[in-house]
Amino acid sequence: MSSVVIVGAQWGDEGKGKIVDIYMEFADVVVRYAGGPNAGHTLVVGDEKIVVRLLPSGILRRGTHCILGQGMVIDTEVLLGEIDELHRRGHENLEQRLTLSDRAHLILPYHVLIDTLREGSAPADKALGTTKKGIGPAYEDKVKRVGVRCGDLRDLKAMAARVAYAMQAWAPTVHALGGELPTVEAVMSKLEAHAARIVPMLGHTSELVDDAIKAGKRVLLEGAQGTLLDIDHGTYPFVTSSSAGAGGASSGAGIGPNRIGTVIGITKAYTTRVGSGPFPTELDDSDGKHLREVGAEFGSVTGRPRRTGWLDLPGLRYASRVNGIDGLAVTKLDVLTGMDRIRVCIAYDTPEGRVSSLPIDDLDPPGKVTPVYVEMPGWKERLEGVRVLDDLPANARAYVRFIEEQAGAPVYLVSVGPRRSETIMLHNPFVGRAAAP
Ligand code: IMP
Repeated sequence: MSSVVIVGAQWGDEGKGKIVDIYMEFADVVVRYAGGPNAGHTLVVGDEKIVVRLLPSGILRRGTHCILGQGMVIDTEVLLGEIDELHRRGHENLEQRLTLSDRAHLILPYHVLIDTLREGSAPADKALGTTKKGIGPAYEDKVKRVGVRCGDLRDLKAMAARVAYAMQAWAPTVHALGGELPTVEAVMSKLEAHAARIVPMLGHTSELVDDAIKAGKRVLLEGAQGTLLDIDHGTYPFVTSSSAGAGGASSGAGIGPNRIGTVIGITKAYTTRVGSGPFPTELDDSDGKHLREVGAEFGSVTGRPRRTGWLDLPGLRYASRVNGIDGLAVTKLDVLTGMDRIRVCIAYDTPEGRVSSLPIDDLDPPGKVTPVYVEMPGWKERLEGVRVLDDLPANARAYVRFIEEQAGAPVYLVSVGPRRSETIMLHNPFVGRAAAP
């Protein structure tokens, strides 16, 4: 099957952008299936870097068709801003290579307002640490069945009535939080301006993706966030509001699960998390500082320092199960260089005994379960120049092999530096064998 899902196996920020970029070279179609502008990845344009939140990185490849699927929530202001920025930098015909699902929901200004007000007023132990991009309230409207979808932009009069109805339902909340809703006219005047540019990009993306797969085209389904932030599988309630895992690829792209060929799980060689919520292997010492500083662990959307910790193998086994991971991409192995010893969590001690899979519902409050670690020797050699596994220092190779054995999925790729070329490719599901990046 010519479709590959790339899914984050941790709490997001696993380095999916680089891996998507590598596999995208072999893809005809790239689909984002969940989330919205809470994601962020860096596009390198000449000597400049731009962080995009909605556009898939495939947008700069002339032969690639990019699709924003129906599982997403879209802020048209952010999307058009990203397109305009790329136009300013000399990139043309972006709109011709982009199709938006007419079923994807819109993030409207009141969603951003509510997200921001709620985060600002929640007690410390309840604040989720969201990206304040309106994600939660937009998905809430979708589930409440009062949401406004991209396809509604085709009929602005009918849309105004939907917007008024949805806003009316939020009014008491906004009032209680001390905020003020914008008027329906103000919301609509922005949308009217955007509609002329958005409507020509709308399409039935479910059909497009299914047809592409049937025609043998290579389709890359690009996840955002990560398994442990998934609304169903994550560390609830400290999660995002979408189906970030591989299951979301089917409903979010609008294709049957049997249309998905391969699932690749991305994991850092250690763990990070932004925002609130349990993180049992978190470090608050010089090792954690090493990971943050050497790994440049600061959020690409919010700039917040990321929390850092050791690799959580029970977490990887859990992610492997709920996503059906066929192979792993291990990123940022180079960040561990220079550490004398590396600890890895291999199990959890719980009141019911030792368990090998992440006890997802017992992580909060902290202390109910205890991570069990093994210690492995570190290495001092730089890894950026390594292109084959056998050339890794013995301890780094042993670390990768340990992950593979313990997670129960083969390693398809190891990233040893931020550049595209700084990659050890072991298996490429689009071509069935290793292919140099
Ligand atoms: P929201 O998605 O903005 O509602 O945020 C909910 C939680 O998910 C917060 O803890 C965020 O920090 C986290 N989150 C959302 N998007 C990302 C991402 O792309 N990477 C990492 N964490 C994210």
